[in-house]
Amino acid sequence: MLKQFARNVLPYDAYQALARAKHFVAGPYEHQQLMAKRRDGARYLSARIDTVTACNHRCQYCYTLDLTGHRTQLMSLEDFKKAAANLFPYCHTVALSCAWEPTMNKNLADFIRVAASFDVPFLHFVSNGSYLTEEIMEAMVDCGLDRMAVSIDAATPETYEKIREVNDLERVLENLGKLRDLKAARGSTKPLVNINWTAFEENADEAIILARDYNDLFDTFWFWHLLPRMRNTVNPFHRMEKDRFFDIVRQLREILGNRLVSNEFNNDRSNKPLGICNRSLDNIRVEPDGSVEVTCSKHRLAGNILSEDFSEIYAKNEPLFDELYKKNTDFCRNDCGR
Ligand SMILES: C[S@@+](CC[C@H](N)C(=O)[O-])C[C@H]1O[C@@H](n2cnc3c(N)ncnc32)[C@H](O)[C@@H]1O
Ligand code: SF4
Repeated sequence: MLKQFARNVLPYDAYQALARAKHFVAGPYEHQQLMAKRRDGARYLSARIDTVTACNHRCQYCYTLDLTGHRTQLMSLEDFKKAAANLFPYCHTVALSCAWEPTMNKNLADFIRVAASFDVPFLHFVSNGSYLTEEIMEAMVDCGLDRMAVSIDAATPETYEKIREVNDLERVLENLGKLRDLKAARGSTKPLVNINWTAFEENADEAIILARDYNDLFDTFWFWHLLPRMRNTVNPFHRMEKDRFFDIVRQLREILGNRLVSNEFNNDRSNKPLGICNRSLDNIRVEPDGSVEVTCSKHRLAGNILSEDFSEIYAKNEPLFDELYKKNTDFCRNDCGR
């Protein structure tokens, strides 16, 4: 809340300087707190689990498409139950998605119901929204899924198809209408529906159209700057300059007010020096075969969550977590403001 307020009122550079200073001072303390939670048996992890590694869209900017040569895998419901039992009791947050498209798993509704039975305080997923079925929507509403983020990056079918190579905008908007109606019929406010808008020069103006003309279909809106990634050398879209980015943010705020809950601008930080990061335990990612990694880092952890409790995996990897926290590795050169 305070962070969002500071982000809204301070000039971008001042906000970044403040965030870095806070991070420098509070980082070691936050890490100690996290470790105390772990020792006391409290929930200290945020995990993302890709139950399937496939996607029905081809977003030209998507860093996942750089994972060439990956194996398409699908987790069985039985394996998911094992992973959930070994991991979820340690988690304050679980996402049923990370790098891929969760609705490519045709049994996603069952996975949501199993995940919800572990009473994780914040359960969510991110989807492109085109394969949402009534069964999935029923499961989300029945289980009180906390949030579904839907990635939409165009307000016209033409731009949508140029970006994603599929003509699914109408279907996605229709699905969001069905979910809104189901929530209303059940008197439920959950799941909260967030739009993830990945923003670049060619689609930024359309964010305003979506925010203005379709704002009964969602609750909150994230306007994200296209990240500096390897794929940008081949993708046909361009990162925005700061002034242009914040001009759109200003217009979105006029329409959405506080429903615009995130507007991340990123400098290209590929050559910035390392800082302290205590968030590696907020970025645990599980693959369908049960292997575990620290997201963004390519650090695969020793162990497998289908057969080992996460406490055993933590113990096996403690030296690596320690190095990640101290930034003694090439873990993350992004200044994510955390
Ligand atoms: C990789 S997708 C996986 C989940 C799902 N398929 C979806 O699109 O929502 C997760 C999010 O990453 C975003 N994303 C992908 N490539 C990006 C990039 N280069 N910069 C910023 N965000 C990106 C997508 O827009 C999406 O919101
Ligand atoms: S839908 Fe998601 S995973 Fe698929 S290509 Fe687009 S951003 Fe990437």
